[in-house]
Amino acid sequence: MQSLKGKHIVLGISGGIAAYKSAYLLRLFIKAGAEVQVVITPNGKEFITPATLAALSGKPVVSEFFAANTGEWHSHVDLGLWSDLMVIAPATASTIGKMANGVADNMLITTYLSAKSHVMIAPAMDLDMWAHPSTQRNISTLQKDGVEIIMPSSGELASHLVGKGRMQEPDEILRRVELYFSQKESLKGKKILVTAGPTYENIDPVRFIGNYSSGKMGFAIAEEAAARGADVTLVTGPVSLDTACQSIRRIDVRSARQMLDAAEIAFEECDAAILSAAVADYAPEECHDSKIKREKTDGMILKLVKNPDIAATLGAKKKDKVLVGFALETDHEHDNAVEKMKKKSFDMIVLNSLQNPLAGFNKDTNQVCIIKKDGSETEYPAKSKREVASDILDNLEDFFK
Ligand code: CTP
Repeated sequence: MQSLKGKHIVLGISGGIAAYKSAYLLRLFIKAGAEVQVVITPNGKEFITPATLAALSGKPVVSEFFAANTGEWHSHVDLGLWSDLMVIAPATASTIGKMANGVADNMLITTYLSAKSHVMIAPAMDLDMWAHPSTQRNISTLQKDGVEIIMPSSGELASHLVGKGRMQEPDEILRRVELYFSQKESLKGKKILVTAGPTYENIDPVRFIGNYSSGKMGFAIAEEAAARGADVTLVTGPVSLDTACQSIRRIDVRSARQMLDAAEIAFEECDAAILSAAVADYAPEECHDSKIKREKTDGMILKLVKNPDIAATLGAKKKDKVLVGFALETDHEHDNAVEKMKKKSFDMIVLNSLQNPLAGFNKDTNQVCIIKKDGSETEYPAKSKREVASDILDNLEDFFK
């Protein structure tokens, strides 16, 4: 599918080892139908040749203010106006610093300063450089200036050190670009609460009861709702996910109690709540202040007490708000889901299939059946969680019509 058909992208490349991945990113943009103009810094050319980039993009690469042979002036202003989106990948510490301070000493920065379009950067550098207060200060300046940061991931770096600073993979950058261009206005003006992830119920300071929920489904819903213009509050249990959209208000919690407190506050203001969190049904009656020592116990019985039911609590005071719940059932799937929808005052319930190996915890795909309180229901095939999020929000929008 040519999701970027006809879009003009300026791909900025600065001088870091991750520049070798920019060729693949460029290829992905072209395959998705975009027209791409590469602008590379002088140091960038040390890491990847303009010949490779020109061949892949089908356009001469811009790097200097003046073309070497003809002396022709490259207009950064024209480029800035041409672009529908500017993506700088990799963005080195130096480029980030120059962007934050308007140091226009190369073609990439002058193009950035002239760009009327949205700008995304994918930082890449060594972990200490990323963690340095000056880099972090520059990043938050850029965020305030409206630049979208595709946060680096953790892993092995070119220095062989392990930590945060790896440029996001080209596939993830493409996903973020597609997300940007798929933005609609269909949920503009709506406030939406999403709960996501597991909850952890502490036994003592180092142990807890939890579950395998990754939060991926809830995060995909929050991102898709934000991409449709909604004002999103995401209350999430402990997960290792970043929120792609900076407009999402993210509240990190740990236990079901904390999730309830945060959700109740956000619920007052919202038009709809989508409850995808896998809330622990029980928590230890008592959380020990210090670590339980093995030699002091000869086996133990942990007394559990029921956690609050967040869905039912919100359902009891929902008035005209739309409430969407999830169900994961092992038997009598359909009937149990309908029963759950009624019991918790949901307007719509998303039944996760347990039959399909492509569905469930920690997967990137899911298969669902969406049942509405008017009795209508739609079975969907297995899809990516992002596509499932889109189906869920299409159904949610029916309630606002
Ligand atoms: N839910 C919630 N708070 C809880 C438990 C569940 O908000 N304490 C929400 C979930 O986010 C989901 C829906 O309720 O949207 C159904 O979750 P599920 O675990 O299937 O429901 P339970 O009431 O725990 O039922 P079961 O006995 O099947 O576990």
